[in-house]
Amino acid sequence: MIKLPIYLDYQATTPLDPRVLEVMMPYLTNKFGNPHSTNHSFGWEAEAGVEVARKQVADLIGAQADEIIFTSGATESNNIAIKGLAYAAFPARNHIITVATEHTCVLESCRSLERAGFKVTYLPVNGDGLIDINELNNAITSKTSLVSVMAVNNEIGVIQDLKKISQLCRDKDIIFHTDAAQAIGKIPFDMTALKIDLLSISGHKLYGPKGIGALYIRNNIAIRPLALFDGGGQERGLRSGTLAPALCAGLGAACRISGHDDEHISTLSEKLKSLIMGELDGVRLNGSETMRYPGNLNFLFEGVKGDLLVKELRNIALSTGSACSTEKTGPSHVLTALGLDKKQMECSLRIGFGRMTTIQEIDYAAEHIIHSINKIRRLQAVAKSF
Ligand SMILES: Cc1ncc(COP(=O)(O)O)c(C=O)c1O
Repeated sequence: MIKLPIYLDYQATTPLDPRVLEVMMPYLTNKFGNPHSTNHSFGWEAEAGVEVARKQVADLIGAQADEIIFTSGATESNNIAIKGLAYAAFPARNHIITVATEHTCVLESCRSLERAGFKVTYLPVNGDGLIDINELNNAITSKTSLVSVMAVNNEIGVIQDLKKISQLCRDKDIIFHTDAAQAIGKIPFDMTALKIDLLSISGHKLYGPKGIGALYIRNNIAIRPLALFDGGGQERGLRSGTLAPALCAGLGAACRISGHDDEHISTLSEKLKSLIMGELDGVRLNGSETMRYPGNLNFLFEGVKGDLLVKELRNIALSTGSACSTEKTGPSHVLTALGLDKKQMECSLRIGFGRMTTIQEIDYAAEHIIHSINKIRRLQAVAKSF
């Protein structure tokens, strides 16, 4: 028996893994101490929990524990990485480079820097959503302090070539940051091999709690970001404020148990893709077919508006785009950057699934999506014939 509604919006957020909740519970009840209280066992106990979690986050990406600072989520991590680094490098360097398809919190951080007088280059992407490394190379100047390129795109799931991009930045003595909110726990990271200096993590995209994230800062980074706000100097002076041990422990546990979903998600992805593409004409995937995280399938269904489809499929939680810019309902900046026209953008739909999704749910979703698209197209054909 399938339990309705079915959740297929895993890029917006993921369910909390019950194993994560179990680890968090003691810090919400009896282990309530302030992790920064150094005079008694309540504080020590909470601090110990935070430090275990810090090591678990570090272990997942091949980093050292002291290279991880906790934040409230990837939005905050991205703000510290981008604005904090830009201000630290100023005035010697006043230019940063990012990509047109980044998450809103990266783009808005860059716009804020532009208002403050910094220069920002927004690299375009090819039709597959990937950047051209030569264009990045050409955009770099002697004034460039930072390049920020996301790992996995939240709308279309494409994976940028971080190995090549980070190596280029290292060769040119430029700090490289990646927003890995949609990538951590989904694609492997080894910071001893990759030349990434700053990396942002979000708890709730990886079956952990909301309101927690982390920023990886390489120990020997050439320029250290400045703190964005003042306070008690926690998190190596970069992120003042009392840490939430329950949330830290949750993120740590989520990192510890991650990395075992690949086969399951690839199976679901192949099944959904073959059912939908096998049964329907006028369908294509937005973004690269090969360089993509399989748990994100962004389809373009010709002639069928995504909004209409979402309304039609009331028992399936789907999204036409990002949940992270709730105030904005205009066309997707990601699909615009891919070169889609307005009609094509309106006819695009993101289907996101993950650890808790079952094959029965994928069958149900495929059947109902196909049925609804055929129905809408039939009705449109009838309406046109009048
Ligand atoms: C790629 C990307 N970056 C950043 C964020 C923001 O993450 P958080 O909700 O942890 O602030 C999101 C959330 O959707 C995201 O998908």
